[in-house]
Amino acid sequence: MSNVNTILRHRFACKKYKSTMLSREVIDEILEAGRLSPTSFGLEPWTFHVCKSENLLSSCFYQESMKSAPITVVITTKRGHFFDPMSEFIKKRAIRFPSTLDEFIDDYKGYYEFLRDNNSLDSWSRSQSYIACANMMTRAAELGVQSCAIEGYDNDKVISALKLDKDDEEVGIVIAFGYPDEEERERIRISAEEAFVYHL
Ligand SMILES: Cc1cc2nc3c(=O)[nH]c(=O)nc-3n(C[C@H](O)[C@H](O)[C@H](O)COP(=O)(O)O)c2cc1C
Repeated sequence: MSNVNTILRHRFACKKYKSTMLSREVIDEILEAGRLSPTSFGLEPWTFHVCKSENLLSSCFYQESMKSAPITVVITTKRGHFFDPMSEFIKKRAIRFPSTLDEFIDDYKGYYEFLRDNNSLDSWSRSQSYIACANMMTRAAELGVQSCAIEGYDNDKVISALKLDKDDEEVGIVIAFGYPDEEERERIRISAEEAFVYHL
């Protein structure tokens, strides 16, 4: 029986891929898992860029997984200034919600000010990309596609390779995808006893 934990037991950080290109249908299915992922306040401060891995190789320090992966997805996230409650971006996102714009801003403003005063807007925005990354890797594994999340990249170089403005966008995370050309590696994980603490 297939369930998410079974898929998670067989997803692994793949370093060597077949040259077979993923079909557009498979890529869209993986991206969809990202698009459906939740974000703080539902703001979806992101864009999913589908790239040929070779075009990002040098900006990702020639990472092993990217040498053979046919595609690499870069999730970019909006920089802090987009999150001002009075910004066009917030308005554009908030008018989709059932509450009025004023009601949304009332709810959002306090947390925005807390993040701004703690200089955390950029990191908060970037952190939104991680759930999408996880969901995409899991959906990919379900389709027989393996992946490798990559934090080893040069932000400015990736942003420039994507022809974006670094004052507006930051790299959230980079993920290589492809059909594996290596044996599945075992999951090395700390035990449930060590990882879980019940405070019930
Ligand atoms: C946020 C994140 C960043 C990672 N960055 C890199 C990276 O830059 N290069 C790399 O080869 N692997 C990277 N990995 C892969 C991890 O090393 C790998 O997932 C971990 O060792 C567990 O192995 P497994 O995924 O096969 O279970 C990253 C994984 C995560 C979740």
